[in-house]
Amino acid sequence: MKDTFEKFSSITVGFHWIIAIAVIGMLAFGIYMEDLPDSPEKGDLYGIHISIGVIVLVVASLRITWRIINKFPIPLSTMPKWQERIAKLAHWVLIIGTVMMPISGLMMNLGGGRSLNIFGYELIAESGIENEFLSGFGHTVHEFGGKLLIIFVVLHVIGAIKHQFIDKDGTISRMAGKRVISNSDKL
Ligand code: HEM
Ligand code: HEM
Repeated sequence: MKDTFEKFSSITVGFHWIIAIAVIGMLAFGIYMEDLPDSPEKGDLYGIHISIGVIVLVVASLRITWRIINKFPIPLSTMPKWQERIAKLAHWVLIIGTVMMPISGLMMNLGGGRSLNIFGYELIAESGIENEFLSGFGHTVHEFGGKLLIIFVVLHVIGAIKHQFIDKDGTISRMAGKRVISNSDKL
């Protein structure tokens, strides 16, 4: 059930790819919808963005719990200390980003006094009470957090591709659920 050095569990692999696809999709969705002119369709897209975002928060929280139980993966090949540090930092930023984005979205929503609906199901009723600090802070974190997350996703994907195709150490294969063998001295 738990990850080993040579093989990741299907839970780790499943969580990683569900969250990866959802987060990349939500980053693109958010940027696209924000630039649309005001219309009822824009409102509908906001509703879908918020609904998916809250589901991402639930799944990402389960994933973090799983990550704490399992510990972060040990890299398959030995690399310079600075590269190892960047990879670790990227994992932390990515994992925190997956919860900070939906939480800051919720701050905007609640700070605006609006209701919270998940695909038409009302989770929180409209309060009508605005909290400018909460919505403003949420907005800043959502906007800048989104940009920071994009930078780290790009770094992370470049790193993964380098390991798989230049170092040929099977890093992506392992995250695809395959058993890999490595010459690392960390075995
Ligand atoms: C096409 C996009 C992606 C690829 C190819 C990819 C690939 C990988 C690979 C190969 C690993 C294993 C690294 C290792 O063994 O040391 C990994 C780990 C990780 N990835 Fe990605 N990734 C992608 C997108 C994302 C996204 C969008 C996120 C989150 C926003 C993310 C978050 C993480 C985290 C937190 C880890 C650490 C291990 C874990 O918690 O499961 N990845 N990724
Ligand atoms: C993984 C989860 C999420 C991601 C990756 C994400 C990403 C984004 C991005 C990149 C933008 C465009 C920001 C900009 O460039 O200014 C955006 C906008 C927005 N997001 Fe999210 N979001 C997520 C979850 C949520 C949630 C849960 C809510 C609300 C409960 C939410 C509410 C909004 C709103 C209201 C906007 C428009 C902001 C504006 O009009 O200025 N998001 N999102």
